[in-house]
Formats: sequence, C-alpha cells, structure tokens
Amino acid sequence: MKQSPSPPLGERLGEGADHSAARPHPDPRPEGEGNSLAAPTEYRFEVLRYDAARGGEPRFVSYEVTAGKRMSVLEALLKIQDEQDPSLAFRYACRGAVCGSCAMSIGGKLNLACRVQLRNLPSRRVVVEPLPRFDVIKDLVVNMDGFWEKYERVRPWLHAKLEGEQESRMSERQRAKIDQYVNCILCGLCYAACPVASQNEAFTGPAALAKLERFYADSREDRGADTLAQEDAHGGVWGCHTITRCIQACPKGVRPTDGIEALRRRLVVDKLKRAFGKR
Ligand code: SF4
Ligand code: FES
Repeated sequence: MKQSPSPPLGERLGEGADHSAARPHPDPRPEGEGNSLAAPTEYRFEVLRYDAARGGEPRFVSYEVTAGKRMSVLEALLKIQDEQDPSLAFRYACRGAVCGSCAMSIGGKLNLACRVQLRNLPSRRVVVEPLPRFDVIKDLVVNMDGFWEKYERVRPWLHAKLEGEQESRMSERQRAKIDQYVNCILCGLCYAACPVASQNEAFTGPAALAKLERFYADSREDRGADTLAQEDAHGGVWGCHTITRCIQACPKGVRPTDGIEALRRRLVVDKLKRAFGKR
C-alpha cells in the first residue's frame, strides 16, 4: 500500500504549533460590524487521494467549500462528500474529539478534523492528508492494524483480583496518578508523530506504552512484572529517544513520554530490588 508523500516531519507536527488554535475563540466584534467572519468564506480544500485497491499514484484533488462562521474541517469534508464527491473517504464517529477516528494531517499539522475550526486556520487553502507513517487504504483512511496490534501487546485492561461483586475503590489522589493516561482516545496521532515508530518496526509506540503505565500506576492493578519485562527492550521502553513529538501531537493533553520514563523507572527499581534480594 502507498504511504502518502510527507512534508518534513517538523512541519507536520507544527513545531511550536498552538493546539489551542483548534478551540474557537469568541470574536468580540458584533456580527456585521467589520466582522468578516460573519459572512460566508470560501476555502479551497486540497485533499490527497489514493485508493489502494486501484493502485496508481496519490494525487491532490481540489474542492471549493463555502463555510459559515463556524465549521470544522470534519464538517467541511462531510459537505464535500455530500455535495461534490461521495467517493471521498475518511473516518469519523463522535464529531466531538472523543472517538479519535478523524486523526489526519491538516495544513501540515497533525490533529483531529473535528477539533479544528476553519476560521482558526492560517490560510483559506487547506491541505488535508492522511496520517503519516500509516499505510493508506483510501484517501484519508489509514490502516491502523499495526497500531492496534501493539496496543494489544501491552494487554490494556485492568488485572485486578476483585472479591465477589465488591467495588474496587481508589482515592482521588490515586486516581490523579492515571488521569492523563485515561484521557487517551487512541487516535494514533502520537504514533504518527513519533520518528522512532517509523524507523523501528518493533517499537511498541507512545500510545501503547503510555497505556501500560496507566495500568501499572493504577492502585487496583495486580498484574505482576511480566508485561513490564516484555517491554524491557529496544522495541519497548528503551526504544524511545525522548524527542517528545508525541506530547506535541496529542490533542488530549496526554504526555506519553512521561509514561515511558515512569516505566523505565519501574524497571530499574525492579532490577535493583532483585539485585539486593528484596524480591
Ligand atoms: S496519547 Fe494522545 S495522541 Fe496518542 S493515541 Fe492517546 S490521545 Fe491520541
Ligand atoms: S469524530 Fe471522533 S474524534 Fe473526531
């Protein structure tokens, strides 16, 4: 399958990118009083299209979109699909930055299409491409199989010994330790942004490793050190170069690098305990 032609990674990540740009800021000017955003605005969408089933070369196709005051990139794509080209393929479900389905490259920056408002983009020419580092199935739909396989590898569920039907409680302080990791919506943006993931096929990747720390940091977890030992490898926690592009790319404020470093600390402590006969 073809991978999409990629601009330099730094551009895709929008280094120094302000992800808050995706959040609409209220325009203080009343509508009609010099507020040009109140009027419909023309955007030129250039969407990279490719169909793996047909083969050929990826090509950009242009669409003109007239947008009102508020329209997200996802809504614009839906409008194109509805009014101009029903063959345009992309994923979405929740439309509210919850399901993680609509991850893509917008104007060279990785984000969720439903989270990016057109009026906050720097240009009325909007280049939309599939996630880099993934094989393209069709247009903006990429093959996530490898991402999910690595996610499954860390056995991402709670291994708790529950007594009967009793609740397994945790304090607010205990919950705070896993908050950021629980917020992960598995959109794959961090994986797409990670330069190691593209060079090291075996690398488990930022999302799955952050999820593993989520469970080890959970006060109810009782899985033992097996999964941790499995990630004690170049393809696991030691593969990360701490470049932190995953942190820049995450739309939910998760810091996968923190999780990977926490797992490394757990491994070191575990080894020291074994060395000194405390385990
Ligand atoms: S850590 Fe962030 S960028 Fe990575 S999959 Fe989770 S929500 Fe997406
Ligand atoms: S449609 Fe669910 S995150 Fe965008």
